[in-house]
Amino acid sequence: MQKILVQGGIRLDGEVRISGAKNAVLPILCATLLADSPVCITNVPRLHDVLTTAKLLAGLGAGVEHAGDVMTVDPRSVNSHVAPYELVKTMRASVLVLGPLLAKHGVAEVSLPGGCAIGSRPVDLHIKGLQALGADITVDHGFIKARSNGRLKGARHVFELVSVGATENVLMAAALAEGTSVLENAAMEPEIVDLANCLNAMGANISGAGSSRIVIEGVPHLSGCTHAVIADRIETGTFLVAAAMTGGRVTVTHARPGTLDAVLDKLRETGADIAIEGDRITLDMHGKRPQAVNLTTAPHPAFPTDMQAQFMALDCVAEGVGVINETIFENRFMHVNELLRLGADIRVDGHTAVVRGVAKLSGAPVMATDLRASASLILAGLVADGDTVIDRIYHLDRGYENIEAKLGALGARIRRVD
Ligand code: UD1
Repeated sequence: MQKILVQGGIRLDGEVRISGAKNAVLPILCATLLADSPVCITNVPRLHDVLTTAKLLAGLGAGVEHAGDVMTVDPRSVNSHVAPYELVKTMRASVLVLGPLLAKHGVAEVSLPGGCAIGSRPVDLHIKGLQALGADITVDHGFIKARSNGRLKGARHVFELVSVGATENVLMAAALAEGTSVLENAAMEPEIVDLANCLNAMGANISGAGSSRIVIEGVPHLSGCTHAVIADRIETGTFLVAAAMTGGRVTVTHARPGTLDAVLDKLRETGADIAIEGDRITLDMHGKRPQAVNLTTAPHPAFPTDMQAQFMALDCVAEGVGVINETIFENRFMHVNELLRLGADIRVDGHTAVVRGVAKLSGAPVMATDLRASASLILAGLVADGDTVIDRIYHLDRGYENIEAKLGALGARIRRVD
């Protein structure tokens, strides 16, 4: 199995281009199922999760063409309504075909995703939202079985908890429903806005995406369009943290600074100079050691849980003590034990981690446990003495396009080894 070898001690310096957002492209690819003609998606990142989604769509009968960063999906040939366990278990976001299949074909069967490393992650909010639109849903033999008698019916629905995936599933279904839907306590993530923009380009009538109240006037048909996926804010944040930890100076290009307020504020607190110019963000640490920061993860626009592990890596080598509260997922401190292997000083009490910065980490073999945890181990490896070898990097390939080449271009000593 492939591993990543990082040799620490290099100050990152240079420019890196940010790819399209994983968490935007996955729902958008699922939304193509709603159209009556081919949909062309551009700025598609080369990620394992994107390939899994392409496989899922092809398995449903859609025509999928992929060339460079462009993916065209022709949904006219869809002839299956089943998302099988084999795919859903490898990628939870597969559940996002539920709303589109149901709205477009009146029937959908999607395997229950089950748990994953970072928590139990149920889908009850997806199901309740679709039921509010009139769907008949049962859970049977490990499958969510959904049916609709004719078109779904627009409705007002209040989400019990803020959920990105549930908002997306119900938003997609409501786009083709009869009448008006109002989604309250909706997730406000930039990826929801990107999905709504794509749906509107397909002919939907959605307003309010990006706020907690989304209004959808259902339309009878959606058609093909061309849509460019927004920049990945988590990839952006990861490179900026890498620059801050190594005392370096890095410019990210093709980014969306407006989607990163909470992350940029925390980076400024570490002592970094940050300059924004259009779609470019430059972080200059002037060779300094970062100051520790406290943070609490929460739904957008607050600090994203997908950046928690990377900031923990930063706190590990910062000056002072950082207190990190994780409020989104119950088990998202899997990286702690691996960071301890590198010499970090971290105490966990429930959902809180107290990180005391140490002067130096020391390289060691470690194991990636989930996507963002893998990134935190690479970041730690960049500042550790000697060699850090990260195992189980398939997690990383799910969400970061070519991370070792991109970090290598900034001067990092990093490579894949067998
Ligand atoms: C998405 C992101 C993921 C990110 C997360 C939170 C994608 C593909 N993934 O995941 O990277 O970490 O948002 O920002 O976009 N919950 C329920 N019932 C449900 C659904 C969710 O209780 O039916 C709970 C979850 O267990 C979790 C919380 O709600 O505690 C938020 O999860 P949610 O926003 O749904 O995350 P995902 O959409 O799965």
